[in-house]
Amino acid sequence: MQNNKSIISQRASQISPSLTLSLSAKAASLKKQGLPVVSFTAGEPDFDTPEHIKDAAKLALDKGLTKYTNNSGIAELKQAIIQKFKEENNLDYSADEIIVSCGGKHSLTNIFLATINAGDDVILPSPYWVSYEEQIKLAQGKVVFTHLPELKFSADVIAEKLTAKTKMIVLNSPSNPTGAVITKKELKRLADLAIEKNILILSDEVYEHFVYENDDEHKSRSIASLGEEIKKLTITMNSFSKTYAMTGWRIGYCASEKKIAAAMDALQSHMTSNPTTFAQYGAVAALTMKEKSSAFVNTMIKEFKKRREVMVNRLNECDGVECAMPSGAFYAFPDISNCKLNEKQLNGMKLSELLLEKENVAVVPGIAFGDDNYVRLSYATSMEQIGQGMERIEKFCRGN
Ligand SMILES: Cc1ncc(COP(=O)(O)O)c(C=O)c1O
Repeated sequence: MQNNKSIISQRASQISPSLTLSLSAKAASLKKQGLPVVSFTAGEPDFDTPEHIKDAAKLALDKGLTKYTNNSGIAELKQAIIQKFKEENNLDYSADEIIVSCGGKHSLTNIFLATINAGDDVILPSPYWVSYEEQIKLAQGKVVFTHLPELKFSADVIAEKLTAKTKMIVLNSPSNPTGAVITKKELKRLADLAIEKNILILSDEVYEHFVYENDDEHKSRSIASLGEEIKKLTITMNSFSKTYAMTGWRIGYCASEKKIAAAMDALQSHMTSNPTTFAQYGAVAALTMKEKSSAFVNTMIKEFKKRREVMVNRLNECDGVECAMPSGAFYAFPDISNCKLNEKQLNGMKLSELLLEKENVAVVPGIAFGDDNYVRLSYATSMEQIGQGMERIEKFCRGN
């Protein structure tokens, strides 16, 4: 290698590793070394994948279903996804509009690579989930961070950022990290705006089932279901990871206009080919064995609702901490900008370092999501761990 040439490409050099994944790994490694670490970093349910899903994958293996499949997913899975969109989201898609990929992250990367040109503006409402920024950069898009006052989605705030270069707006409702659900009114206003300006919408709906209030205001909705015009501009993305506790199975999917789906199909055909064959058969069971799957999902959501209340109420008891009750997902996102140590104000990064060092509690600094006045705590962990971790955070905030 000539010494004036860097081995690493400019593309890879500008990508930062996922802070949430590296913090989860750090917490796991400290635990392995024997430290009594309580980790609130995980972005995955602590529930095991339901038996009927595992059985379907095992059966697929036993039947020898271990070879390549159709690049964008087996017909049975696409059919089950079409049915899911119809029943749960009031959306009609055909098989050539569905692309199944190797996890939601892969679906998202396909979406950005298939639609974004170098220099296109992509509107990213902030706080945002950690990977969007890097995935947009990978596609050479320009990330336009759009701060949401009081963590609430507002179409007016988005409207102020639109230019002739705006190609796409990223939506994530319920949101990781804030748990906020976009209201029907704001969704409608955003749809009108996108239609008027001919802008694509990426709707990441991976937490759609994780909603804790039953009223109309807090219901999770697909923006594509608001009408034919907005459906044409929208790419609806989802994953099996969170809903069915299948994070390690790596099955994600999206639905869009045929032209966009065909572009993603071509990209995927050279990068990964089909998602793992027997994992796809497990995913079919998740969607088609409806009684068992919804019993599982309901049990998990009921449990998460209890944990959410315990965690958020206890956070609000801590000096300098203010936490809104999240409507969805499984994260608390407290404002810690009034937290102090020895009269010195802390930010998310400093607070997370101190909590890990002094109290063996791992949380994710808000900087990973674009705002270091916050930290993120996942309540997808046992009530016992929440109790222990919160006790230590309370002790830290009391300063003893
Ligand atoms: C908002 C959001 N979208 C997408 C994903 C991707 O999930 P997966 O790649 O496991 O399907 C995650 C995972 O943390 C997420 O939080």
